[in-house]
Amino acid sequence: MTGGNSGIGRAAAVGLAKLGANLVLVCRNESKARAAIEEITRKSGNNSIELITADLLLQRDVRKAAAQFLSTHSRLSVLINNAGTNFPSYSETEDGIERTMAVNYFAPFLLTNLLLDVLEKTGHSRVVNVSSVGHFSAHLALDNLAREKRMGTYGIGAYSRSKLALILFTYELARHLQGKTVSANCLHPGAVRTNIWSHAGTMTPIMRLASLFMKSARDGARTIIYLASSPEVEGVSGKYFDNCRQVPTSEESYNESLASRLWEMSLRITHLGPADNPVVNP
Ligand SMILES: NC(=O)c1ccc[n+]([C@@H]2O[C@H](COP(=O)([O-])OP(=O)(O)OC[C@H]3O[C@@H](n4cnc5c(N)ncnc54)[C@H](OP(=O)(O)O)[C@@H]3O)[C@@H](O)[C@H]2O)c1
Repeated sequence: MTGGNSGIGRAAAVGLAKLGANLVLVCRNESKARAAIEEITRKSGNNSIELITADLLLQRDVRKAAAQFLSTHSRLSVLINNAGTNFPSYSETEDGIERTMAVNYFAPFLLTNLLLDVLEKTGHSRVVNVSSVGHFSAHLALDNLAREKRMGTYGIGAYSRSKLALILFTYELARHLQGKTVSANCLHPGAVRTNIWSHAGTMTPIMRLASLFMKSARDGARTIIYLASSPEVEGVSGKYFDNCRQVPTSEESYNESLASRLWEMSLRITHLGPADNPVVNP
């Protein structure tokens, strides 16, 4: 799971650790992550929790994280792309990508593709992508996506587009995986009181205040835990969940031509080639 050191991810890690999962957390800050792992172990009684350090802003770190995982593990039952952020101002990563899009969409796209082979070999495995109800307000302009230097704008606009892109990716991935025993689903965790509201730019004080009335991280983690572990969703793929129930997403998220073009562009932008993944590129 990415981003298991804080908020919804940390609460999901506690829940999954209580169920006996062997967890590998991909986090960017080693000392914060070590402290979180101690807490997860203390709350769950499970000490099978490993750490891979990676900054998901950077494609080279995403590749390094996947390589590190593959060098020590031959099985992966569930990949949870949970890490997410919201940069209030525009700037680009070293890969020439707007930063919110880089963390929230391109990192999950790249990491998932790099790990698809092991997910398929493991069998009856699952990809769980943490999206947001915020995608409803978004439209994806692929000409912007293609011009990497001008990828979207920033702030809530980029956040909503990244979450729409993640849903389009989840549905397209589920189509690519038809006939295989790997599922791909996504979810909205609800409005949850976490650190993410500290990155809302000028809206930060208002969002912090509003967050007092939001769900706890533990409640926000329920749908992640459900999709990662429940037998009820074995074989269910290409769906979006809220409160552990399948619900529809925006009209645009079901545009298969858009999803397929987004996939092709994302392969190019993340420099994924046939050697990276025999599942996606047979
Ligand atoms: N809270 C809500 O109401 C809400 C609503 C809808 C969707 N979501 C989604 O839920 C997910 C979890 O967010 P949260 O609310 O739990 O917020 P959070 O407490 O801020 O957690 C976000 C996690 O992502 C990690 N992360 C951010 N940038 C990263 C990077 N460059 N490299 C590696 N890890 C990075 C953070 O690490 P650090 O601790 O090092 O920053 C943290 O572990 C996100 O995808 C978010 O978009 C949240």
